[in-house]
Amino acid sequence: MEKRTNKSTEIFQSRLKKHHDELRWLYMELYDNPSMFAELCDRMEQFYLERNETLKKLDMTREKDGEWYKQNDLLGMMFYIDNFAGNMKGVESRLDYIEQCNVNYIHLMPFLETPKDRSDGGYAVSDFRKVQKELGSMEDLENLTAACHKRGICVCMDFVMNHTSEDHEWAKRARAGEGEYMSRYFFFHDAQIPSQYEKTVPQVFPTTAPGNFTWLEDIGHYVMTTFYPYQWDLNYKNPRVFNEMMYHFLYLANRGVDIIRIDAVPYIWKELGTSCRNLRQVHTIVRMMRMISEIVCPSILLLGEVVMEPEKVIPYFGTLEKPECHLLYNVTTMATTWHTVATRNVKLLKKQLDIVSSLPKEYVFLNYLRCHDDIGWGLDYASLKEEGMEERSHKQYLNDYFQGFAGESNSRGELYNADPVTGDARFCATTASMCGIEKAGLDKDKKAMERAVRMDMMLHAYLFMQSGIPVLYSGDEIGQINDYGYKNNPLKASDSRYIHRGAMNWVLAEKRKREDTVEGKLFQGLGKLEKIRKSEKAFVSCADTWTVETKDTAVLCMGRYWKGEKITGLFNFSETDKTIRLEEADGEYVDLFSGWTVRNGEITIPVYGFYYWKQVVS
Ligand code: GLC
Repeated sequence: MEKRTNKSTEIFQSRLKKHHDELRWLYMELYDNPSMFAELCDRMEQFYLERNETLKKLDMTREKDGEWYKQNDLLGMMFYIDNFAGNMKGVESRLDYIEQCNVNYIHLMPFLETPKDRSDGGYAVSDFRKVQKELGSMEDLENLTAACHKRGICVCMDFVMNHTSEDHEWAKRARAGEGEYMSRYFFFHDAQIPSQYEKTVPQVFPTTAPGNFTWLEDIGHYVMTTFYPYQWDLNYKNPRVFNEMMYHFLYLANRGVDIIRIDAVPYIWKELGTSCRNLRQVHTIVRMMRMISEIVCPSILLLGEVVMEPEKVIPYFGTLEKPECHLLYNVTTMATTWHTVATRNVKLLKKQLDIVSSLPKEYVFLNYLRCHDDIGWGLDYASLKEEGMEERSHKQYLNDYFQGFAGESNSRGELYNADPVTGDARFCATTASMCGIEKAGLDKDKKAMERAVRMDMMLHAYLFMQSGIPVLYSGDEIGQINDYGYKNNPLKASDSRYIHRGAMNWVLAEKRKREDTVEGKLFQGLGKLEKIRKSEKAFVSCADTWTVETKDTAVLCMGRYWKGEKITGLFNFSETDKTIRLEEADGEYVDLFSGWTVRNGEITIPVYGFYYWKQVVS
């Protein structure tokens, strides 16, 4: 036992040694506090020693194979535990279903303790070491992660580090006037400094939570609240905040999670006179987190939630020598995809995909069509301007379109945080509703339903064609539509994101087994695509990728090449058949989805159709 501990400490020490100088340097640069740094190192060692042997083994395996998450075998799904299966034990009992979905990465949406009536979907944490009572316990989490690992499933959880709930112990003590705790947040006794911040800091929730500060009548102070008034921003200028949050992070890592989603990471450092987004110090903190996890729990991946324009997103990967996040959301591609759906014009998407293709292959993106949040229309407006599209009117068009008011739209959904001042608004709905499944169902229009299902399938086929890790939004695998029930719940009614946060409909899910149902067509169709993706090497994350000009504005062509194997994807974003001639199609090709072969360069792609052509090498 003694020997083992020594060996174990040796491993920790050698990892620490590797990063110590840089970690210390960055820590001193931010905090200039040697004793707090020493405390951090001591606690890291403690967390390392507390880490169980199974996780330590996993650490070693993944440390040896740094490419483990860059293959073509990971498929994610994100869900709210209560919506999906009631509680954590319920999730464990649904692991067979997860496997039937070919999913081997589950993102459990926020499950830590949060006040029921002021939770922001769980993103207002009141205790980082306690699971919400209704969902289970830390022990349940450990059992769940262990059960997942046995089946080769990774588990992702949120680490909400920008703020705490106003019910968090620190916030309560700050509110009671304890200086030590007040210094962990941003307090101001009058409006002078807050109003200076307001001049340069944009608003996250302009309608549902305007402004960046909240006046606390009881203590006569303003507190900084970038998100909802009950989410108090943490002050990372205080090393106590950084250290304590890192201890929470390591505590959670030791419960067996594989992927930590760093929520709202661009916001964690504030400076007067700036936008308080993406500041240099944010990168210092993320880099430190990366090193801390590489020292204590190297099997962990950091997923940065950076919902920003591309030039702001990419720096969160860090550099190849000094990496920050392992994974980032491919947010611009996601928004551009829906723009393409609304315009039937692939030009901007092609350009966006080319930008992604030109990035270093080490960068791994998390690709998705929908998630728990709204879609903000963060597009490349400079390029759209060249096509005569203005930002404001185009956003208006997209929002009209997806609400079903404009163009040939069959989409259904709702606006989110429409800002009366800027005219800006974001959009909420499920993939299925945006594809027309909701409307076709209500209209009992079989033809329209068929088209909607085709579009949904085509979008997923295109999603799987991208490099990185595709993540499904739970319910999408059976085409679940919007849930308007949130309007009857006073705690949710003002937040239209709940339209796409409905409970999993297990009755409908049963229909997935029958091929003549919408659920069955999607579930089985996606299953087939997922298996293709996992079996074809050309889908590895580091494959060469490119797009091809098809000379048809509605048809996207994407290529992938890896070690002698080439796959060409064709996607028709319109409701008419398209015939195109592709240079690329010379020779014999087989469509991996249908098994058809083509021998010449002329190809007809049906309404919302797609192909995965693989060159037959004789
Ligand atoms: C992230 C979450 C979002 C939440 C916000 C505040 O953006 O995805 O749902 O409202 O952080 O924590």
